[in-house]
Amino acid sequence: MSAEEKSTSRQWRGVIREYADRLDVTDATPIVTLGEGGTPLIPAPALSARTGAKVYVKYEGMNPTASFKDRGMTMAISKAAEHGAKAVICASTGNTSASAAAYAAYAGLTSVVLVPDGNIAMGKLSQAVAHNAEILQVKGNFDDCLDIARDLADNYPVHLVNSVNPDRIAGQKTAAFEVVEALGDAPDFHIVPVGNAGNYTAYFRGYSEDLAVGNSTKLPRMFGFQAAGSAPIVRGEVVRNPDTIASAIRIGNPASWALALDAHKTSDGYFGAISDTLILEAHRLLSTEVGIFVEPASAISVAGLLERSAAGAIPAGATVVLTVTGHGLKDPQWALRRADGSTVAPTVVPVDTAEIAAVLGLQKVPA
Ligand code: F0G
Repeated sequence: MSAEEKSTSRQWRGVIREYADRLDVTDATPIVTLGEGGTPLIPAPALSARTGAKVYVKYEGMNPTASFKDRGMTMAISKAAEHGAKAVICASTGNTSASAAAYAAYAGLTSVVLVPDGNIAMGKLSQAVAHNAEILQVKGNFDDCLDIARDLADNYPVHLVNSVNPDRIAGQKTAAFEVVEALGDAPDFHIVPVGNAGNYTAYFRGYSEDLAVGNSTKLPRMFGFQAAGSAPIVRGEVVRNPDTIASAIRIGNPASWALALDAHKTSDGYFGAISDTLILEAHRLLSTEVGIFVEPASAISVAGLLERSAAGAIPAGATVVLTVTGHGLKDPQWALRRADGSTVAPTVVPVDTAEIAAVLGLQKVPA
């Protein structure tokens, strides 16, 4: 192999540069990137064996701030900078604020984040703090935070970077492009967690655009899952006090509700609700059998797959892509809890090989 062939590993340039011809950017757009996108699409034999489908996991925890939000944030912050914004604002259950704070830091912009009081995971809060965001804990839920963020952006000189900003959805659609490139076509099914339904909408848009330009031959059926205590789309009504351990998707009035209903209709999609118990079971299954550590909201994709498979809705041999949206280190406490609520603690042992071997139940190999 020549040296040139060996050095094929060029650096991934972030989603705006990789997909410049498919995004609304020009030479005048200052590209604010941390190298987001290009995340692995991982075959999951353990999930394929359980369902009879060909299952792949799109691991979005591998983005720079460890969630899928970076794909949309590179666009939103680049466009904010292009428009001369000095400050950006978002409401967040945690990941959007972590991403906004990081990209704003890179661009030299001030970031303001509104988060529901006491209800965001420590990893995410620490990211917003680390990147020097102005963090306000609103005494209300996420939906209250979003109302206020929109109000502020409408009436004060702050640029909104929630997914109601179309630049966010545009950036996020690149994940669908990556899936089509990796598989050579769109999958039969695509499963995502649903909070504001922005990502559901974004994947649908990406797949639709790929189909339109002939990169793929079909649209996947878009399956979205909400937590049972926080399932407005499934129930068909706003949930006033959404409740779930999956704090990322504790949303009672999704911002992209109408767009998601369109995507659902066109793709012959499905919306389902999953209990917290099943979310945590799926969380454990993904960690123990597939080796992928995610936050609880992300595990709902796995739970949704198992639920639909058990219902007979996933034919044998179908190609299924699950998006897992955020890294497990964002909210690690769930890995340390057993089903009965007790905390896992490692066994403490002395500095003694024989005793450790005994604890492990190992028999010495005869000499
Ligand atoms: N998964 C994770 C880890 C999330 O953080 C979110 C949304 C979703 C799924 C749902 O995506 O809203 O596009 O349907 N988090 C937002 C936030 C609300 O503020 O970080 P969606």
